[in-house]
Amino acid sequence: MADAAITVEEARKTYGGSGGGNGKPALDGLDLTVGRGTVHAVLGPNGAGKTTLVRILATLLRPDAGRIEVAGHDVVREAYAVRLRIGLLGQHAALDEELGGRQNLELFGRLHHLGARRARARADELLERFDLSDTGSKAVKQYSGGMRRRLDLAASLITEPEVLFLDEPTTGLDPRGRAEVWDSVRSLVGGGTTVLLTTQYLEEADQLADRISVVDAGRVIADGTADELKAATGGDRIDVVLRDAGHLGAAVALLPVPKDAVTVDTDRRLLSAPVTDRMAALTGVVRALQEAGIEAEDIALRRPTLDEVFLHLTGPDDRTKEAV
Ligand SMILES: Nc1ncnc2c1ncn2[C@@H]1O[C@H](COP(=O)(O)OP(=O)(O)OP(=O)(O)O)[C@@H](O)[C@H]1O
Ligand SMILES: [Mg+2]
Repeated sequence: MADAAITVEEARKTYGGSGGGNGKPALDGLDLTVGRGTVHAVLGPNGAGKTTLVRILATLLRPDAGRIEVAGHDVVREAYAVRLRIGLLGQHAALDEELGGRQNLELFGRLHHLGARRARARADELLERFDLSDTGSKAVKQYSGGMRRRLDLAASLITEPEVLFLDEPTTGLDPRGRAEVWDSVRSLVGGGTTVLLTTQYLEEADQLADRISVVDAGRVIADGTADELKAATGGDRIDVVLRDAGHLGAAVALLPVPKDAVTVDTDRRLLSAPVTDRMAALTGVVRALQEAGIEAEDIALRRPTLDEVFLHLTGPDDRTKEAV
């Protein structure tokens, strides 16, 4: 992509030496392209290689191999030029607990060589932007999780970076804190910043990202928009809610798919199955249920959720194979 803010080709990294590492590559030929001014989510389970990727992109860790450019500069040969153009929100925050929010931001500004006056102005600007002006003088240890993360985000923006890395920005937050951080991220994007965020939450990727790369065991196993990912895996689904949970077993056998493709949620009296031909499936299921005398409360066709896509891609099959 000519207008890429991030290009990663065949990135490889294996942790080794006395520092440990299990000998398996953390990045195993990972490819990624992020367009300027877009939000790109790297979605993957624990240990997929997300933090390793972010640390390499942020020049904190050297790759073993691969061509990796951020904001037009090579992360190994031109690390300094890259550092001038990026911001990083790490998985673990780097705030001083005893200081207030405003003091933390001013300190960050000074660390990044802003003059005292400029650092103060930038701190005020960012507090305002992330709705933290009222609490700017309160010590960070008194902040809620969501406020803390917004302050982290503000700190990563001190230098007005072209490219911002967010490593699991909402892990550990309650739904309210998560929504606050999402709003802050959305407001950034309007300003033209390119954002690469990592997450284990499918909903987060769905909410924030223009494109998503699904990563597992150090490689991209699928990428595209949320809609493309949903369409590429499994197609549509049919949901059937029965009036009587006692009929779930019998109803499973009536669906036009193999038994093990059907998910059963007994509490909600719900069956769900992937279908290829929407209308044929719908009419077929209605007729079969009627003929069997099983009463349905609701029958609906829908797109798969990202959770279903993710499970399909990283499937239980692979996991068991790996565990052996
Ligand atoms: N400093 C290190 N030394 C040795 N191995 C490491 C180190 N950091 C990560 N690893 C290993 O590299 C692999 C990828 O780890 P990484 O932290 O990049 O995953 P992640 O996707 O960020 O996971 P999480 O969602 O838990 O943050 C894992 O197998 C991990 O154990
Ligand atoms: Mg991580």
